[in-house]
Amino acid sequence: MPAKIAPSILAADFAHLADDVARVADHVDLLHVDVMDGHYVPNLSLGMPVIAALRAVTDLYFDCHLMVTNPISLFEPLKEAGADLVTVHIEVHPDPTSAAAAARALQLGFGLVVNPATPFAAVAPFVELCDLVVVMSVVPGFGGQEFIPEVLAKVEAARKLVDSAGLGADIEIDGGVTPETARMASAAGANVFVAGTAIFGSPDPAAAADRLRAAADGME
Ligand code: DX5
Ligand code: ZN
Repeated sequence: MPAKIAPSILAADFAHLADDVARVADHVDLLHVDVMDGHYVPNLSLGMPVIAALRAVTDLYFDCHLMVTNPISLFEPLKEAGADLVTVHIEVHPDPTSAAAAARALQLGFGLVVNPATPFAAVAPFVELCDLVVVMSVVPGFGGQEFIPEVLAKVEAARKLVDSAGLGADIEIDGGVTPETARMASAAGANVFVAGTAIFGSPDPAAAADRLRAAADGME
């Protein structure tokens, strides 16, 4: 399965976001947008005005990772701002059925995120509702953290379930992704690779995205 590369703009230069996105646009498959509310996680990042401003300068698909206490209330303004897909933490909505329905009603893609400390069993019954299953490989809240290899077992479980049940969900790994950890996550069954620091922290973000893809695709 070909890898999809999803740069996280959390690690971009917020004073030059459009330039940073333009530098990688031809080398990536989607944009990962980390929305943090300073409540669900102890950090604030960005919201609707920034997403709308970016929507005006790129056609990339926006995967909006909602690290917020009240995600459903944001679906409509996010859609208006230009979001394509929203992901919600299973820890926030242990039964995400109505969250999924709310996203679908707005024609937003829907995904679920599972934190490092949360077992895959929490999310397994709801994978059929998802376009995307996100396995966090760091504790959410900050970029630049170290990859937690123990979560790879959850990637394997997610891949097994998606394939055996014939579901269409992509499996994304988020946090501490480098060429080395992308290789590990790919072997475990991930096909979408979020990277903030490894891409925007590099002097040549486009080349860094290419290196990640090569690693994830097993070409390197
Ligand atoms: C963490 C965010 C991640 C983060 C990844 O809360 O969900 O998407 O931006 O950043 P790196 O690649 O630096 O770990
Ligand atoms: Zn994220």
